[in-house]
Amino acid sequence: MLQQMLKRAVLPALLVLTQFRAQATEGMWLPHLLSNMNEKEMKGMGMKISAADIYNVNKGSLKDAIVSLGGFCTGELISSQSLLLTNHHCGYAAIQSHSSVQNNYLDNGFWARTQAEELPNKGLFVTFIVKIEDVTLQALQGVSRSTTEKDRVRIIEENLTKIKTNAKKESYQDALIKPFYEGNQYYLFVTETYRDVRLVGAPPSSIGKFGSDTDNWMWPRHTGDFSLFRIYAGKDGRPAEYSPENVPLKPKHFLPVSLDGIAENDFTMVFGFPGRTQEYLPSEAVKLTVEGQDVAKVSMRDAALKIIDGFMRQDEKIKIQYAAKYASTANARKKWIGEMQGVQQTKGIEKRVAYEAEYTKRLNGNASLQAKYNGVLDSLNALYRDFGPYAINRDYYNELIRNVELLSLSDKIVTMLYDVREKGEAAYPELRDKLLAAQESFYKDFSPKVDHDVAAALLDLYFTNVPSRYIGGEATQIWMETNKSGKQAADKYYSNSALLSYDKLKAFLNKPYRDVATAIFSDPVTRMGIALRNGYVEHVNNPAAGMQNDINRLQRVYMQAQMEVLDNRRFYPDANSTLRITYGKVNGYKPADAKTYDYYTTLDGVMEKYKPGDYEFDVPEKLRSLYAAKDYGQYGVNGKMPVCFIASNHTTGGNSGSPALDAYGNLVGLNFDRTWEGTMSDINYDASICRNIMVDIRYVLFIIDKYAGAKRLVDEMKLVHPKKAAVKAAPAKRA
Ligand code: ARG
Ligand code: GLU
Repeated sequence: MLQQMLKRAVLPALLVLTQFRAQATEGMWLPHLLSNMNEKEMKGMGMKISAADIYNVNKGSLKDAIVSLGGFCTGELISSQSLLLTNHHCGYAAIQSHSSVQNNYLDNGFWARTQAEELPNKGLFVTFIVKIEDVTLQALQGVSRSTTEKDRVRIIEENLTKIKTNAKKESYQDALIKPFYEGNQYYLFVTETYRDVRLVGAPPSSIGKFGSDTDNWMWPRHTGDFSLFRIYAGKDGRPAEYSPENVPLKPKHFLPVSLDGIAENDFTMVFGFPGRTQEYLPSEAVKLTVEGQDVAKVSMRDAALKIIDGFMRQDEKIKIQYAAKYASTANARKKWIGEMQGVQQTKGIEKRVAYEAEYTKRLNGNASLQAKYNGVLDSLNALYRDFGPYAINRDYYNELIRNVELLSLSDKIVTMLYDVREKGEAAYPELRDKLLAAQESFYKDFSPKVDHDVAAALLDLYFTNVPSRYIGGEATQIWMETNKSGKQAADKYYSNSALLSYDKLKAFLNKPYRDVATAIFSDPVTRMGIALRNGYVEHVNNPAAGMQNDINRLQRVYMQAQMEVLDNRRFYPDANSTLRITYGKVNGYKPADAKTYDYYTTLDGVMEKYKPGDYEFDVPEKLRSLYAAKDYGQYGVNGKMPVCFIASNHTTGGNSGSPALDAYGNLVGLNFDRTWEGTMSDINYDASICRNIMVDIRYVLFIIDKYAGAKRLVDEMKLVHPKKAAVKAAPAKRA
């Protein structure tokens, strides 16, 4: 195998060249390590501030203006009154929760006219990073390469508890430790979390979600994907639960907003909380992801989405019920398709093989490293090959359960019953009531008609694509009872199940525990659900668990090996929902032969896409008239209104709502998406086609000021002209 790899390593010089070029903007870097690792390069690319202006524990710095929003998005402070900017799609649930038929803020937008009108959001929180410290030595104390995985987990767990207990922090702060570089390093984060976060403003969906699923992940893009919140604190400035007495938090730093816009090749950086990447996988794992797992997941979602879409187009009620579910199912599906295509187009697997050949050559040239890491990469690749069928069949199973809603519900009920079995019968009433309370809202957006058809199609796909040895005898038997027909199975399940309505479910679960535990095996839906789950656990999950353990261990060792063997390269840790900075340049790209994409869009493009009455491409009347009058105020340029732009910043899910900053640390844009060709950047970044998509901040200001008339919010901000100032300052310096 090694031999074969070396042979395939003779790749055209061009490949190696693009790979080298790709490195300039690749990476999600730790803010407290910039001065050593990145500052010089950042300045070389045009940055005018220093690493200490970005991260500083002794005084306010850029990092103090950035928050993790609810753990799933990023937000940034843009005024001394803690006005918080994030995406419309990040604020979506909050906006939706305040909406009713009379006051549909999703459709019409929402603008608080005073602070008193700003709306509290139960459960929404923001987290600041106070400081970051390397605690690797303490975390790994007592573990060595011969420690078993089980012992390792236990020892580290104990170490981390100790570190957290001893961490120096204020009583209102928290300590959190996360592994980096696949568990080779550990960092401590002291954080501050505020739980009174109020909705301040949101454009209508026809601006904030313009283009919806059709344009999602795509460039050219014309979405004003932003919303505004405000962080409130107790009168003492400390975190406090919601209270009408709370006051806007006085931030340590907030971002000045640039009115000068961006130009091609401008330096930009994106500061935020990227969720998860896997950049250091061996070639077999990249192959498994795009040739196996993505294919499986996409096939299941394609089938489900086609059916749901058919119903949504015919039935207004179903359209509303399934809008959010459809969007999230479609969002990941489209990303995976982009990922498969992108890896193929950029020869991602071949490049990974070439990389491994270089690694192996260097390893073999160093006797002591060779002794330490010999065979690690080969074993890891071999393991991934064995693991492949399990990973793919795990995805099929998860997609089946996820997309057939009655099976998801069945799974929750069964989990609850297993829980009771463990805790004892006395726990039943409480656990049952919790489940019932959590599921009541499920039925509001559930249509048995739709789910019936989805189940029929996905059961057919599942039993056709997953070999029976991964399904097991029990489920296969039940499948045969309906003649291996998804339609017959669905007819049976959906005509006579206790799960079909909330009242039926309640009546069913309100029987004594023992009766429920017996009856659960005769309900047609839970009967199939239990059989599928048992088969999955026995034939996929359990046999794969050991392999997964080995993979984790080898992936960790391989990470360390790469860092030691390829010691001329800089390595950034995979994203893990911690604060990172990524930087790049404003730039268009060539997605395919003869196609080139410009780096920015304007309101002209919104009007080109405008389809009156369409649920994705309608344009509000007010915006059309502002366009007709070219009434862009101070936000337009030469009679045009900029809308979105792209750059080579390396971002991922979780970076939604992250600020795009100029060379001085001023806000120039708001990150919300990536281009389709580049969604593979989670496993295979390539600067030639990976671009992040941002709303131009001038469009945000224009919508707030000119469209919504919420000038009070713009007045709170600090608007700056960095480019004009630089031009003015230049001659003075020479004199
Ligand atoms: N693709 C972006 C992300 O991954 C935006 C998703 C929200 N927009 C949508 N049309 N579903 O979150
Ligand atoms: N829309 C994504 C999010 O919500 C960001 C786009 C990406 O995945 O890069 O985090």
